[in-house]
Amino acid sequence: MEPMNPVIDAIMTTRAMRRFADRPVADAAIETCLQAAQQAPSGGNVQPQQYMVVTDPALRAEVGRLYRLAYDRYERSLPDPGDMPDERAAASWRRNRDASRHLADHLGDVPVLVLFLQPIVPWGGEDEEGPLDIGRLDASVYPAVQNFCLAARSLGLGTALTTVIRIRTDEVFELLGVPARSDGRRRFEIAALVPVGHPTGSFGVAPRKPAATVTHWNGWGSRK
Ligand SMILES: Cc1cc2nc3c(=O)[nH]c(=O)nc-3n(C[C@H](O)[C@H](O)[C@H](O)COP(=O)(O)O)c2cc1C
Repeated sequence: MEPMNPVIDAIMTTRAMRRFADRPVADAAIETCLQAAQQAPSGGNVQPQQYMVVTDPALRAEVGRLYRLAYDRYERSLPDPGDMPDERAAASWRRNRDASRHLADHLGDVPVLVLFLQPIVPWGGEDEEGPLDIGRLDASVYPAVQNFCLAARSLGLGTALTTVIRIRTDEVFELLGVPARSDGRRRFEIAALVPVGHPTGSFGVAPRKPAATVTHWNGWGSRK
């Protein structure tokens, strides 16, 4: 691998941070991260996302309550992890479970919650041969989410990309006044809810499969 530089270093140490200090985050920092999000690529440069930044304590508390209800339901649906290959894997799984539970119990206390909204619109078009598969619209939203998280990391802020709040989308939209269509159908869906704050833990490189084990050079199964 090439030597590290500040960009690679920020990418390598951007991971799910779920425990936050009781310390405010400046609006200017959030604005910088949103500017970085806006620079992300999107299909046809449509830039489909809207951002909802929630800083008001009462609103955060209510989003937090809804997140917790969603997470409770999700947690109950999780399959038993079964036997782990080794104690390291088991410890990592337990850490992730405990941190996720912690976030679910404290989301409303995180200083800033950013919702990434994606419009529900036809996407892809068709021609005389039928529909054209050009990928899904969310492929044009998640690059912005990751840009946001990377920019936050560069400012020393922790983030976690989360989606379980989708289970409670209707209540979140009602709370925040997100408009529906005239026939009542949703106009938007939640691509991600990203809590932002000063992490209590330190940034580090998260364990991942080595890239070489999932990379094929010039043909399936051909490794370097
Ligand atoms: C699409 C997506 C949805 C996720 N949803 C949640 C979520 O609802 N709650 C949560 O705590 N973490 C969520 N995560 C975070 C993942 O659990 C996390 O990225 C993964 O465990 C790796 O964590 P690490 O980078 O700290 O190793 C989600 C991540 C992605 C990419």
